[in-house]
This record gives sequence, C-alpha cells and structure tokens, in this order.
Amino acid sequence: MEIKRPIYMDYHATTPVDPRVLETMLPYFSDLFGNAGSIDHLFGATAADAVKKARDQSAHILNAHSDEIIFTSGATESNNIAILGVAKQYAEKGDHIITCATEHKAVLDTCKYLQKIGKTVTFLPVDQYGLIDVAQLESAITDRTILITIMSANNEIGTIAPIKEIGKIAHDNRVIFHTDAAQAVGHFMIDIEAMNIDLLSFSGHKIYGPKGIGGLYIRRRNPKVKLTPIIFGGGQEKGLRSGTLNVPGIVGFGKALAIAEKEMKDEDERFRKWTLEMFDAFKELFPSLLLNGHPTKRLAHNLNVCFPGIESKALIHLLKDDLAISSGSACTTTSVEPSHVLRAIGVPEDLIHSAIRFGIGRFNTKEEIKFVVERVTSSINKLINIR
Ligand SMILES: Cc1ncc(COP(=O)(O)O)c(C=O)c1O
Repeated sequence: MEIKRPIYMDYHATTPVDPRVLETMLPYFSDLFGNAGSIDHLFGATAADAVKKARDQSAHILNAHSDEIIFTSGATESNNIAILGVAKQYAEKGDHIITCATEHKAVLDTCKYLQKIGKTVTFLPVDQYGLIDVAQLESAITDRTILITIMSANNEIGTIAPIKEIGKIAHDNRVIFHTDAAQAVGHFMIDIEAMNIDLLSFSGHKIYGPKGIGGLYIRRRNPKVKLTPIIFGGGQEKGLRSGTLNVPGIVGFGKALAIAEKEMKDEDERFRKWTLEMFDAFKELFPSLLLNGHPTKRLAHNLNVCFPGIESKALIHLLKDDLAISSGSACTTTSVEPSHVLRAIGVPEDLIHSAIRFGIGRFNTKEEIKFVVERVTSSINKLINIR
C-alpha cells in the first residue's frame, strides 16, 4: 500500500479529529444548533442533553462526578482559571505557589504573572529525566502555600510525573493540587480519587477531539475547592466560565474521551513498541544518540532524542516532504529561544539544537514507522557525509 506523505508524527502539538468524533459533532453545527442555555424549547434542551452526556463522559475517564467538570476553550484557559482562581480565592490563607521548571508556558507564565503582582512562587528544578524530587517538594511547602501545580506528563520529553505521590503530599499538607494533564488524559489512566487531584486541566485537540475545547475538573468534596472567576458574563459553567457553550466542540470532546477511555490501553502497548523500535534503529546507526526524558516513566507515544552533531532544523528541513516532526514544543518552534524543558533537564546548549521530538499517534501504521526509520537514517547519513 502506498504511503501518503508527509507522514504526521507531531501528535503532541495536535491530533487530527477522529472521524468518529467528527461524525458525532456534525449535527450540532446544523439541525441541532440550539443554545444549551435556552432550555425552554426543544433546540436548547437537545443541546443541553448533549452537553450533559459529554460532561458524563469527561467525568467518567477521570473517575470524577459530572458536576465537577466545567468546559473551557482548552488547557491554557483551564490552567489560567485554576491557578488565578485559587490565588484569588485563597489570598487570605496564603500567597505561595509551587510549580516546576518544565511546565508548559500556560502554567509558567501564569505563575510568573502572579509573582509580578506580589505572590511568592517556587519553581522546583527537575533531574536529568525531568522528574521533580518529591522530598524537595514537601520541604518547599510553608504555612503560606495554597497551591501545588505540577504537570502530569511533559509535552516535549514525555516524562510522567509521580502524580500520586505529589497528590498525597499535597493532601497531607492541606494544599490544593492542580495538574496540567493536557498530554496525559486519554493517554494513560488518571484517577482523581486515587491520585488526590483537586484540579485538573485537559484538552480536546490532544486526544483526537477538536481544537478550542477543553475542560477543568474541580473537586467538590474532601476538600471542596473554590475558585474566584477570572471571566465574567452570563454565569455559565457555575459562573467560572461565562460565555455561550461551544456545543459541537463539547460533544466532540466527550466522544473523543469516550473513545480514548476504551482504546488507550491498546494504543499504549502499540506505541511503546514502536517508539522503542525507532529508538533502537536510530541508536544502531548513531551510537551517540541520547534519549531525552525518562527511559520508562514516559508517554508511550513520545520519543525525544538528540542526534549529537546533527542540526535538528537541517534534518527537519531535509525530511519535510516525507515527515512532519518537531524540534520542540509548538510554542517554542516559532521563537529562537531554545527549549526551556531541555535546558531544565541539563541538556547542553549545543545538544539542544540537535533535539527531535517524534510524537506518534492513532493514525500511524507499522509501515509508516518502518518508512520513517529508513528516511531518518538515510537523511542523517546524508548530513554526516556533507559535514
Ligand atoms: C502540557 C500542555 N499544557 C497546555 C497546553 C495548551 O493546551 P491548549 O492548546 O488546549 O490550550 C498544551 C498544548 O500545547 C500542553 O501540551
């Protein structure tokens, strides 16, 4: 079978919408266009029912309750609502927030903003694998600490954080625990009860749902988490996210989560095998190859490697007709600033420019993996020979 090119392997940046998701969404753009807030007539009631179903699906994958989910425009907005909302709501209790150096900018820059307006923020360092030291986390907690925000899985290097241990520390110390799980939900099991998570951000377009839709889980008991809104208007989503609901997006998000819940275990196995095969093949050709991130505590579909001496931009350019890959996160690729994540794990400056992120996903095939290995290795050989 002919392979369609370029092959997409940048699934951390975004995913295509699964055809099953699209099919579920389509009627809500046309016949079923009602406003989910206008429940006095059939159009609105139908939309409200669809939103309820999606809320149930969103809660189910997290082992949460439906009324603990609010819909947002994505993980960026969820992170902002959670972090700024806690900072404002609990201002009398304290002013200290703990996060870590490898967070997505949606968390880092929100925390930096809080620092600017007078809050205290601890940015924990990470080790060479991108893991925080949980003992260091615990000792950073003071009686002024109101929030710990640590991502579940890193979007660049795929490292999975010890979420359960962090949750336990947070709860033992009566500090709210928020996690940016944009790269985690739908990829591996997250259980908000077992992991003591109080707030969790997730996103549609990382799990084969549409862009511009996401969710925020907000714990309702033990403890009940309260947030001060940062957006004002019609009072939708418990007053925390005013604005007419994006019904087609919400329907798609729910469907994408329901599919992921069923399929993520099989996908995890399949992707882990493929990323290992790719790593082994590259290592054979290029023995100085370095893996970025943790060797086992990592997202199955992530492979982030440095090819020492090979400029990643040159490799990506050479491969561009065959393969779509990235040299880092989508938001750092437009700026010349080297990846803050690779810096934080101690990758030397010259090696940072040789980093490549492969993000494989649902629509990649075994044949494509084989083709990509061949094309990458031949392109590297070409670059070595012209040096
Ligand atoms: C870890 C992480 N957090 C937050 C975001 C932002 O998500 P969204 O595009 O839904 O706002 C992303 C996406 O790049 C991400 O990978």
